[in-house]
Amino acid sequence: MAREINAVGVVGLGTMGAGIVEVFARNGIAVVAVEVTDAALERGRGHLVGSTDRAVAKGRLAPADRDALLGRVGFAVGLDALRDVDLVIEAVPERLDLKRRLFAELDRVCEPTAILATNTSSLSVTEISVATGRPDQVVGVHFFNPAPVMKLVEVVRTVVTAPEVVADVEALCARLGKVGVTIGDRAGFIANALLFGYLNHAVTMYEARYASREDIDAAMKLGCRLPMGPLALLDLIGLDVAYEILDTMYRRGGRDRRHAPAPLLRQMVTAGLLGRKSGRGFYTYDRPGSPVPV
Ligand code: 3HC
Repeated sequence: MAREINAVGVVGLGTMGAGIVEVFARNGIAVVAVEVTDAALERGRGHLVGSTDRAVAKGRLAPADRDALLGRVGFAVGLDALRDVDLVIEAVPERLDLKRRLFAELDRVCEPTAILATNTSSLSVTEISVATGRPDQVVGVHFFNPAPVMKLVEVVRTVVTAPEVVADVEALCARLGKVGVTIGDRAGFIANALLFGYLNHAVTMYEARYASREDIDAAMKLGCRLPMGPLALLDLIGLDVAYEILDTMYRRGGRDRRHAPAPLLRQMVTAGLLGRKSGRGFYTYDRPGSPVPV
């Protein structure tokens, strides 16, 4: 029988981490939300409060339920707050050295029975797992952006992940109202492996002035019934995140040309055009984080 997971820690409260905290708290599970500085913690808290306030304003969440949801979340600076959780999900920036150091620390701080999960989208879960003394309890749990809305979670098992751990995480996904798909440790897993060649191609098309950004997006939205076009989706994902994913997939996936990041993507990241979060990417937004281009 699957182990019941009742207390969860989330490390890193960027767009994905804050969204993951909301998913757990919405589903009645206590969450410890951890960041490295007070300022980063406040940003994460602001993200969560903003998102739940919007749900209340739209009539999707009763004010009392919002208060209960927020009451399930504890905020802390530093990993010591994760001593008693059953599962930790790491959502820090996509740098292998950073993640490996964090997992070594988590291994030291957390209960020996705790599951340690990474939300990495393209790094090797195996390489992260061997930074701990419990690689059999390390698993990938890859949420999609925006985490409270997207139904999919990719559950990534390495060659040493214990089958019970995979089963526990699959059962947890179902409790969260998500659909879990289980996959081996391959660059980009399923969805990003298929998606990012397409997104990169859209940037190349735009860079070559083959078509306008609006027409590229309209073609895929109206012609293929996707919820948004590729350039708008890159703005949602974050151009820095997309660049890192492509670069990692290119290097890990046998230097497949489709994943060699388009030069324009790199230039935009260098110039600070990161998409919605910075207020400008392929489109311009009236304020950072706004979903609506002006
Ligand atoms: N947090 C919480 N809820 C959100 C949200 C957010 N950030 N953004 C939108 N929502 C909710 C809205 O409140 C709304 O809820 P309601 O219908 O109950 O009122 C619902 O989602 C729909 O939102 P909107 O009406 O504002 O706008 P849209 O209908 O255009 O939907 C969208 C917005 C959900 C973002 C939709 O355009 C979409 O699904 N886009 C594609 C997203 C996608 O492909 N994500 C995957 C990216 S790849 C990835 O994440 C992998 C990683 O490794 C990079």
